[in-house]
Amino acid sequence: MGLILAFVRVLFLTFLLVWYTDAGASNGYKVFNVKKYGAVSDGKTENNKAFLKAWSEACQWHGKAMVLIPRGVYILDSVLFLGECNGYMAFNLKGILKPKGSLQTSDQWITFRYIKGFFLGGGGTLDGEGYKHWNRHDCLKNHNCHPLAISLRLEFIQNGMVSHIRSINSQNAHMSLFGCVNLNMSNLRLSAPGDSPNTDGIKIGSSEEIKISKTRIGTGDDCVAILSGSKNINISQVHCGPGHGISVGSMGGEGSVTESVVGVTVKDCTFNGTSDGTRIKTWASSTTGVASNFIYENIRMMNVANPIIIDQDYCPYPPCDMKTPSRIQIKDITFNNIWGTSESNVAVTLNCSRTVPCKNILLKDISFFHGRGGSVRSLCSNARGTSYGRQRPPSCF
Ligand SMILES: *[C@@H]1O[C@H](CO)[C@@H](O)[C@H](O)[C@H]1NC(C)=O
Ligand SMILES: *[C@@H]1O[C@H](CO)[C@@H](O)[C@H](O)[C@H]1NC(C)=O
Ligand SMILES: *[C@@H]1O[C@H](CO)[C@@H](O)[C@H](O)[C@H]1NC(C)=O
Ligand SMILES: *[C@@H]1O[C@H](CO)[C@@H](O)[C@H](O)[C@H]1NC(C)=O
Repeated sequence: MGLILAFVRVLFLTFLLVWYTDAGASNGYKVFNVKKYGAVSDGKTENNKAFLKAWSEACQWHGKAMVLIPRGVYILDSVLFLGECNGYMAFNLKGILKPKGSLQTSDQWITFRYIKGFFLGGGGTLDGEGYKHWNRHDCLKNHNCHPLAISLRLEFIQNGMVSHIRSINSQNAHMSLFGCVNLNMSNLRLSAPGDSPNTDGIKIGSSEEIKISKTRIGTGDDCVAILSGSKNINISQVHCGPGHGISVGSMGGEGSVTESVVGVTVKDCTFNGTSDGTRIKTWASSTTGVASNFIYENIRMMNVANPIIIDQDYCPYPPCDMKTPSRIQIKDITFNNIWGTSESNVAVTLNCSRTVPCKNILLKDISFFHGRGGSVRSLCSNARGTSYGRQRPPSCF
């Protein structure tokens, strides 16, 4: 009798489970499993058709829809997941995505565009397999050959969350945002070798209300790069290294008439073994604009070559010439409680433009030692501001 009861119970539970999965409801989401649309996770088959079919049905669903990618390795050609959709869209990535050998759109791999209400997460991985392409190292470094693919590109996403995603060995940037508003990114892990070319961690352009938190980035270029048109960018609890630090800019290198970045907070972050720490760079070019209202606070740096640096003479390659000073106004910048070891003997560089000197720079409690012992110094030109609290190196103000 007991055995039969147990059997009935198992049968009932199985039924419940099957019913639950079939109805595809999960936390109120209607689930669209790519495997049901023919996706094959063998690491060989290209899955664009199955993924796009799942996406398009989910996108038409009136309500919360979830595209589910179960565990396994899926090959994808460059792909565009396009909105607008009828309801909230979740992309629940449990598996590993890898790019097809040669991508149809060679500079973007996975793109999401025009989505209002978006979630990307699930603990899965984007593996760009960049090492297959980085051998064009010299031309990539000099920006004179066709760019490789950005792993994840988010365009015109409004009210979104990206969390618990890993990106490894992106060919170009790991993630790039354009035209996004109100996007929270957290618990990400982005990694590529320190000498991989142009592998920015997160690139932000023309976007507002972006939060990045609890994220580890070790890569070959900027950990975070904040570009023109960005407003209210909050970065906290980010660990950066290896990499080129958290950068605003470069601004003024695109040939646009005017560029601006307003409202950046970088708080409670650590840098380890990076070439730069907190950096603001503008090209020596005729572009006008403003970079203002930045707060850098509670930041620890270990063996960073240029811990605090404003560089308005940025001119890594033509067409700029060093004769045109930058016309971008840098102002209202606070550096508060920043400490650690510097790899160079210049821990604070404020190299501002002679046409528009930096204004209202505030240095408070800055404390650096040279990584190999000895003292560090500040190097400033055309910078105006004030300092108080501990100042090591001695401040220019
Ligand atoms: C992002 O975080 C902020 C503050 O923590 C919150 O107000 C906002 O609603 C969040 N946005 C999304 C899309 O979850
Ligand atoms: C960003 O940080 C600033 C200053 O700490 C704060 O006023 C603002 O509300 C934050 N914005 C978001 C979107 O979290
Ligand atoms: C900094 O990086 C070095 C080299 O990768 C590593 O050995 C060290 O443990 C790191 N330090 C911290 C505090 O993370
Ligand atoms: C700072 O500016 C001077 C010229 O004013 C230049 O010689 C120097 O290389 C600059 N340093 C950095 C780190 O940009």
